[in-house]
Order: sequence, then structure tokens, then C-alpha cells
Amino acid sequence: MATIFSTVQFPSSHVLVTDYPKLTLLLFAIGGFTAARFALKTLFVLLQTFVVSGKSLKKYGAGKGAWAVVTGASEGIGREFALQLAQQGFNVVVSARNASALATLVSEIEAKSTGGKKVQAKAVPMDFSKLDDAAQWGRLESELAGLDIGVLVNNAGKSYNYPEEFHASSRKDMEDIVTINVNSVIRLTHIVLPGMVERKRGLIINMGSFSGTSVASPMLSTYAGTKSFLSSFSGSLAEEVRGKGIDVECVNTYFVVSNMSKIRRSSALIPTPKAFVRSVLSKITLPGGALWTNRPGVVTPYWSHGLLDYVMNVIGWNMAFVRYTHSLHKDIRRRALRKLEREAKQQ
Ligand SMILES: NC(=O)c1ccc[n+]([C@@H]2O[C@H](COP(=O)([O-])OP(=O)(O)OC[C@H]3O[C@@H](n4cnc5c(N)ncnc54)[C@H](OP(=O)(O)O)[C@@H]3O)[C@@H](O)[C@H]2O)c1
Repeated sequence: MATIFSTVQFPSSHVLVTDYPKLTLLLFAIGGFTAARFALKTLFVLLQTFVVSGKSLKKYGAGKGAWAVVTGASEGIGREFALQLAQQGFNVVVSARNASALATLVSEIEAKSTGGKKVQAKAVPMDFSKLDDAAQWGRLESELAGLDIGVLVNNAGKSYNYPEEFHASSRKDMEDIVTINVNSVIRLTHIVLPGMVERKRGLIINMGSFSGTSVASPMLSTYAGTKSFLSSFSGSLAEEVRGKGIDVECVNTYFVVSNMSKIRRSSALIPTPKAFVRSVLSKITLPGGALWTNRPGVVTPYWSHGLLDYVMNVIGWNMAFVRYTHSLHKDIRRRALRKLEREAKQQ
């Protein structure tokens, strides 16, 4: 190696400029373009993350009698979507399996809505893992029929109880994850979209995840696959309906405090559902950290998630993040099993 380099004659910068002026100019132009593009992109990401507001929810019928449909609304992020969309003036249909939690939510929304901002709410209990249950889907369709639906939030989701290798995972769990996170989203979107097309107005929010949307996730492979589907589905559908007054986005998120994440305390990187949903609803259609990262339809609205997503894309060394995620998941699994063992001993 040393001999190769010692025999190659590199021109000095002086020789390069004087003897190859066109080549020098070209190299400067490429370098300048790359630096300018990076600076512009960083500036736009920062502006979208910290300064600019997204599309107004009024464009989708907020305060004008339109409805928002929110799945997985019995707790966590979905519950917060329902509360904040109602606060913005949407009537709300909420769905999940836990009928009593939905009933409490409906009362809460109705109790809070007073005077000029009075909104209606109704609960439609559903088990989205039961795609073949014609009765429940028929009930949902008839509850939605005739409503002016301005917003659909496909939020209901299932993940693993703790990270596990695919070969050791329960087949039923894997199939439920796909049915809830993918098939039910397709079914419900297919029910709601025709009305939006007819009214030339609508917003569809699909809840994605860093697992699958930003980085492959060993030991959550099926879950990551479903979230990857959602980002590709959202990008494709978004382009299809762009001229019809309908926006579709896949919200990319890192951890949020919830039962699913099993994280109870918020931090700069892990928001509460309230802070997280506030950022989603204030940044509609702005890609934020996902700007110009070749993932059309994907948005990363929460500030620290946006910066993380952006930095990961700038660094670009995806395999390093995959390896880090793998070791993180091994550790989470170890701790989850130890906890289960302790609990078993106490019984
Ligand atoms: N929290 C995070 O760190 C995080 C990170 C990335 C992505 N996400 C995504 O964000 C979304 C919301 O998650 P979350 O953190 O708010 O979780 P969560 O608190 O566990 O809430 C999940 C919701 O989905 C509903 N659900 C689960 N299985 C269902 C089924 N078979 N049929 C109908 N509804 C069902 C649950 O209601 P019932 O139990 O009453 O049915 C619940 O309302 C999910 O799509 C998740 O993948 C979350």
C-alpha cells in the first residue's frame, strides 16, 4: 500500500487550480452545491420543527360539524388524539376493545364541550384483531354512515409484550399484530376514504414508529414490518389523493410514555401523549425531521424525535442503528424476563 502511494504523483493545489481550471471549478461547484443543500435542508428541518405551523385543522372541518374517527382511543396516544381533536371542534367517534374506558372518554369529551364549542362523541367498541367478525364491522360501518368525517386517526396498535426473536414468538401474537396494525387499517381507510373523496376534504393520520419507519428492529420484526407497511402505504395513498383535497401522513415516532412503551416518566426524548399529540396536530403535513429523506408521506413532528430522525439520516450508517437497536432489545427482553420471574416467585 505504502509503495503504491509513494509512486502516485498527486498534483499540488496550486497545480490543480492553474493546470486544470475547469476541473477545479467543477469540484468547487459540486462541493458548494452539497454544502448549500445540506445547509438549506437543515434550516428547513429546524424551521418546520420549531417555527412553522402545519395546515389548520379547520381545512378538515374543525368547528363546522365534521367528525374525527380515532382508533385505539381507550388509552395512551389515541385517547389524547380524541380529547385534543374534540377540543379543536371535531365531533369524535372513538373505538377500541375496552367499552367502559370508551364510555368514560365520551362523557369526558361531552362534559368539557360547552357553549359555542359543543361537540358530540360516540363510542364504537371494536376488536381490530377480528377481521372476520362481520357483525362488528357492519355495526361500525352503520355508525359511520352519513357522518361528515374530516379526520381518521389509525392509531390502534399492538406490539410485542417484550422484544423476542421471531422463531420463538407466538404465531397468534404475530398474526394479531399484522391484523390490527395493517389489515384493519386498510379496512377502515377503505370505509372512510370514499366519503372524503366525495367531499374533497380529509386528513388520514397513520401511527407509524421508528421501528420500521426509521430503522429495522431486530426482535420486533413483525411489528417493525407492519409500521414499514404503514409508511409505504401512506406515501402511496398520499400521492393518489393529493389533488382531491385529502392529506395522508404516517406519523413517525420514537418512544412516548404509554402502556405499550412501558415507560412511565417523560423526558426530552420521551414525551407524554399530551405533548406528543399536540405536536402532531400543530404540524399537519410538515415532514419535520423526515424532510427530504426519501420517505414520502412520513412526518416526524415531535421536536426531539424530528432531530433524532434527521441526524440518523445525515449520519446514514443504518447498520450501526440496527445493531444498537438489537442490543437495546436484548437488554429490554432480559429485564422483562427477570421481572416476570420475580413476579412468579411472589405468587
Ligand atoms: N408509545 C410508544 O412508545 C409508541 C412508539 C411508536 C409507535 N407507537 C404507536 O402508537 C400507537 C398507540 O400506541 P400507545 O403507545 O398509545 O399504546 P397503548 O397505550 O397500549 O394503546 C393502544 C391502543 O390500541 C388499542 N388496541 C389494542 N389492541 C386492539 C384491538 N385488538 N382492537 C382494538 N383496539 C386495540 C388499545 O385499546 P384496547 O386495549 O381497549 O383495545 C389502546 O387504546 C400504536 O399504533 C403504536 O404502535 C407508540
